[in-house]
Amino acid sequence: MTEPDIKKGLAGVVVDTTAISKVNPETNSLLYRGYPVQELAATQSFEAVAYLLWHGELPTFDELAAFRAQERPHRALTDTVKAAIDLIPLEAHPMDEVRTAVSLIGASDTHAGGSVLDAGGSPEENLERSIRLFAALPAIVAYGQRRRRGEQPIAPRDDLDYSANFLWMTFGEEADPVVVDAFNRSMILYAEHSFNASTFTARVITSTLSDLYSAVVGAIGALKGPLHGGANEAVLHIFDEIGDASNVVPWLDAALAEKRKIMGFGHRVYKSGDSRVPTMKAALDTLVAHYDRAEVAELYDALESEFVSRKGIYPNLDYPSGPAYNLIGFDTLTFTPLFVAARVTGWTAHIIEQAGANALIRPLSFYDGVDERHVEG
Ligand code: COA
Repeated sequence: MTEPDIKKGLAGVVVDTTAISKVNPETNSLLYRGYPVQELAATQSFEAVAYLLWHGELPTFDELAAFRAQERPHRALTDTVKAAIDLIPLEAHPMDEVRTAVSLIGASDTHAGGSVLDAGGSPEENLERSIRLFAALPAIVAYGQRRRRGEQPIAPRDDLDYSANFLWMTFGEEADPVVVDAFNRSMILYAEHSFNASTFTARVITSTLSDLYSAVVGAIGALKGPLHGGANEAVLHIFDEIGDASNVVPWLDAALAEKRKIMGFGHRVYKSGDSRVPTMKAALDTLVAHYDRAEVAELYDALESEFVSRKGIYPNLDYPSGPAYNLIGFDTLTFTPLFVAARVTGWTAHIIEQAGANALIRPLSFYDGVDERHVEG
């Protein structure tokens, strides 16, 4: 039998329709439910964008108020989730804490997929679960960073919006509005990106009629990898290795001679620039000015221009977001968990969409192992 046309990595394969977001690599644009992501980042709160992804429309004033009233009671770190996180060795990656915490929240929701006949729950139940995860993740991520620093968790504040409260729970002080704004933009930019690896993982799990929590846990596992969400951490390691802008050329000479991948550059879909980078770079610039750290921008610019001119490969969102999170004060290990807190909105929107028009996702493979043979004797 001749080998069929195999699309390794599913590159270029269109597997389904979606009404949640549109990525257009020709124009480097990204639309959430029709709205350009840069417009949303400039004008909306992350809560409003989460609502948009789930409902298809931006909330009215009253709808946003109702959504916030629904979200805020679920912000606190519960004793059971805290106890589960405390069981995880401090040397483990915090993505393992986030994965475990979501798994425990799922197991505690005894109505979610408790029976094989449950079929993953109704859209209303899944929306309710999505809002709870959205609300709970900042406490989980913030506590992960705090316990590594030997600090106690901080109780949430009901008078702060999502982004301001996230920073409050992480650092125990009210963040400057410039910082809240940059952080809010990053959350919006990370929220959704069509059939990326983690979202597709969530859809595959959902397609078996498994429950929403299981799909999110699987997505977290996919996001952890450095070719996906882990890249924002890797960018900071690269910055640490390089040191300052004057060292970019010798560092890059050596890295390319060793055939290293330069994290934060390249994308499976965008080949001439990531639609989200200009907005996140502008947010990084406001942070650089706020913290008076011009050397960060110099290193950023130097590596970008040197790498782009040598390889013609452009930065992706992880390139500006890594240094932005570092300036805000997040530990490098916390960067990918931040991505989870943002992307849980997109994942859950896709889980609900997949469940609403489901087909089991089960591709074929071409066998190239040994020919049929038989056990001797
Ligand atoms: N550094 C160095 N070379 C890179 C590169 C990078 N960041 N990204 C792509 N390339 C090179 C590859 O080595 C390959 O070269 P070759 O044809 O000589 O072998 C070519 O460009 C195509 O790359 P490939 O990995 O096959 O493309 P892809 O579409 O499968 O990869 C990524 C997309 C994201 C996996 C890839 O660009 C990458 O690994 N980037 C770094 C990780 C990262 O930032 N991930 C976050 C994505 S949002």
